[in-house]
Amino acid sequence: MPQHLKRLISFFAILLILFLIMRQVLIPKSFGQLGHYRADAISENQVRELHYAGSENCTKCHDSIHIEKDEGYHKQLKCEVCHGPGLKHTQYADKFKDGHLPDSLLLHKPIERKECALCHQKNAARTKILFDTIDNTMIVQIDAMKHKLLNKKTKEEQKCIKCHNPHQP
Ligand code: HEC
Ligand code: HEC
Ligand code: HEC
Ligand code: HEC
Repeated sequence: MPQHLKRLISFFAILLILFLIMRQVLIPKSFGQLGHYRADAISENQVRELHYAGSENCTKCHDSIHIEKDEGYHKQLKCEVCHGPGLKHTQYADKFKDGHLPDSLLLHKPIERKECALCHQKNAARTKILFDTIDNTMIVQIDAMKHKLLNKKTKEEQKCIKCHNPHQP
């Protein structure tokens, strides 16, 4: 066998051995046990703390709001999209019999213009996108810098919820 072929073969043999060693060292122990992924990833995700309760769990105590919302344009929005993660609130709210919850259990209320604008702000890049999950309707857009911005008399900035009920806009 020519000398240069021998060198080439031994070079590739060393590469192969290195590859096998690295593979042994780098691949996590649980990889492949259940499929082409790390089986430990499942148990690691299971122990992560939950934060969201899901809208169904809000109806128990806020049924009227749920009904109101179901009849309006916001019917497809989940409560926690606007109010933030509410699992603790749902779990502990009925422990306070007088109905007054400590601040730490109260949820955020998105009353600022910019919070409605997150979804409704006119955006040239957004116009042609259909919102698949929402019956293929496009979210109606306004220019939050102009739309009913100032009170005609007092010249003060007006909140969106002064005119629109967030649960039935
Ligand atoms: C076990 C009953 C219960 C459940 C379930 C519940 N809430 Fe409440 N929630 C309350 C009570 C009681 C108050 C009144 C607190 C107060 O006025 O001090 C309240 C108040 C609120 C407020 C107003 C907070 C404020 O600062 O005024 C929001 C927003 C709210 N809940 C949203 C939700 C959402 C979203 C869910 C579902 C993830 C939910 N709630 C589930 C009992 C509940
Ligand atoms: C589009 C965003 C949005 C969604 C979706 C939404 N809320 Fe609200 N919610 C608000 C805003 C904004 C306020 C504050 C209203 C105010 O202060 O006048 C509020 C106020 C509340 C309050 C305080 C009491 C009241 O009537 O003002 C409760 C309770 C509440 N929401 C529960 C819910 C529940 C339950 C759902 C789901 C069924 C839900 N919200 C969905 C934006 C939203
Ligand atoms: C998470 C996204 C989201 C947020 C936040 C949100 N909206 Fe909406 N809004 C929607 C969707 C989706 C619809 C239904 C499609 C449509 O009609 O634009 C809608 C519909 C509306 C409509 C009816 C538009 C029409 O068709 O005539 C009004 C008015 C409105 N929202 C006001 C508000 C106000 C006020 C706030 C803030 C309290 C707000 N929205 C926050 C997503 C959002
Ligand atoms: C002074 C009252 C008032 C305020 C404040 C106000 N709106 Fe409106 N909004 C209206 C009225 C009235 C309409 C009906 C049609 C019109 O005049 O455009 C409307 C229409 C809309 C529409 C539907 C537009 C369309 O083309 O069908 C959306 C979306 C909307 N508003 C969102 C908002 C958001 C988001 C805010 C806050 C950034 C806001 N509005 C603040 C009164 C108000």
